[in-house]
Amino acid sequence: MRGKVLEILKKTNDYVSGEDMAAAIGVSRTTIWKCINDLREDGYKIVSVTKKGYKLCEIPDILDKNDILKFLGTYRPEFVGTDICVLKTVFSTNEEIKRLAHEGAESGTLVAADVQTAGKGRMGRVWTSCGGGLYFSFLLRPDLAPSDVAAVTLAAGYSVCLTVRRLTGCDAKIKWPNDVIIGNKKICGILTEMEAQTDLVDFVVIGIGVNINQESFAEDVRDKASSLFLKTGQKLDRNKFLAEIIKSLDKTMQSYLLSVSVDDMKMFKDLCATLGRRVRVERSRGYIEGIAVDILPTGELVIKTDDKKNISVCSGEVVVQGIY
Ligand code: BTN
Repeated sequence: MRGKVLEILKKTNDYVSGEDMAAAIGVSRTTIWKCINDLREDGYKIVSVTKKGYKLCEIPDILDKNDILKFLGTYRPEFVGTDICVLKTVFSTNEEIKRLAHEGAESGTLVAADVQTAGKGRMGRVWTSCGGGLYFSFLLRPDLAPSDVAAVTLAAGYSVCLTVRRLTGCDAKIKWPNDVIIGNKKICGILTEMEAQTDLVDFVVIGIGVNINQESFAEDVRDKASSLFLKTGQKLDRNKFLAEIIKSLDKTMQSYLLSVSVDDMKMFKDLCATLGRRVRVERSRGYIEGIAVDILPTGELVIKTDDKKNISVCSGEVVVQGIY
């Protein structure tokens, strides 16, 4: 109901009477009045003038499923975003997807939230998730071995890069294995979690946090993090951004999950800022240092060490010379 009222207000650039809206939707004027109050509580600026009706003056920067569907247009996701749930606040969208996965949710289910109260980063870190960012996770039930899941993260990072490039013109790149950067600043982090048997994946949760409209960052991350707003000076519509990422993820995952081709890997590698640079990867026992020379179809990074050995690593804390 609220969605229908909003739709009418958005379509009409002028005042529209409560009576006309009530007739168009087939409800009472009191119901319309309640919807208007709900919308105002959510931050929509709606003025009302006697005998003229209501006029929408300002739309808040909140995620809205109807808007996301509007921006998807006729596109029907088959792999990512087959079922979309938008929440105001959640602990962590990754945790919410895990909960849904245990209840039997289908592959492709996606949850997005305006705010996460316990957003999770890699290595047990906190992912601060206040207003302006985009936080979402999706579920995959791929026919993959656990050792192949690292490449799914890469495919997700690749899709984010394409969307950022298309919508902002910025030169977004992947910092292996799960960051998206512009220049030497992080604008997106990806947290992939899975539940698996020894040789078969049960499900994979891919959680993505994109710094979109943040105007500043806390001191501890300021030298490393940036947002698309800070890079371009433009505020972006997060609903549009999410719809575009869904399209991009859907296409990438479709081709990637059906068969990992050499072409897929080449595309991922072309957008990877890590390749060709000196890296240091922290591991549980010591570290590996050398030049990043390749990415394998499994998603592993191949490092040529100073004593000319090729060593592949599938994850770890990575420092890339010249980036962070
Ligand atoms: C990292 O760079 O450390 C990964 C950050 C991943 C953050 C996203 S935000 C949406 C999803 N839900 C979470 O709790 N974490 C991921």
